[in-house]
Amino acid sequence: MKTIIAANWKTYKTWDQAKTSTRELINLLPQDTFTEKEVILFPSPVLLKIVAETVQNSQITCGAQNFYPVTEGAFTGETGTTQLHDLGCTHVLIGHSERRHILHESEELITQKLHFALQEGLTPVLCIGETLAERKQGLVEAILAGQLESALAQNKNVTDIIVAYEPVWAIGTGEVAGPEEITAAHACIRQWLKNHLPTGENIPVLYGGSVKPKNCSQILSLDNMNGVLVGGASLEAEIFSKIVLA
Ligand code: PGA
Repeated sequence: MKTIIAANWKTYKTWDQAKTSTRELINLLPQDTFTEKEVILFPSPVLLKIVAETVQNSQITCGAQNFYPVTEGAFTGETGTTQLHDLGCTHVLIGHSERRHILHESEELITQKLHFALQEGLTPVLCIGETLAERKQGLVEAILAGQLESALAQNKNVTDIIVAYEPVWAIGTGEVAGPEEITAAHACIRQWLKNHLPTGENIPVLYGGSVKPKNCSQILSLDNMNGVLVGGASLEAEIFSKIVLA
């Protein structure tokens, strides 16, 4: 399985910055990087076209941070999957903590999005993770299992999916989860996937939350670790390339 290094650019960058940054990244990554690594960029929707065009002749792919589970229709302000395909997206982020907690996206909508993405041939990156309060109450395993169960209950014959463990308290805070905490969470996720999905053993599980060049090698060496989802440290091509090449 290739190690997946994904960049979540959130609501940052202008058109020119996205173009420059993507070009820089392509130039910083030697061709043989891609024999072991898969690199996916998740820019804001207004930047998808320029990023997809720029990565066209490279091995980098791009995905959407959000979409509405329809191909097209009357849904003001939303993006449908026909548009995502047209823009060159192959992946979609689903259930990111900022969408769960700031945009109040429900488990029901997350489930709908997940199955719609699969139906439309887009690979979902399902983000799950506990809040600090939940961790303090000893609920980590229950929260992770509950979020997986809720998103996947409808159809467990899912194979083309990526899971990202992103503890809410470690996102954008500079507070990275420790190796024991990450290892325990990943073991719990792997066990759940193995118990419930036919190919649960082979589903990539990523870690996200304050991943930086200085901590990424240790994180990537942990058990059941198939890659990282990077926010802040993915914005500058040079810094992000260090994580890709770690
Ligand atoms: P961060 O964000 O690396 O800035 O913590 C991670 C994410 O939101 O996926």
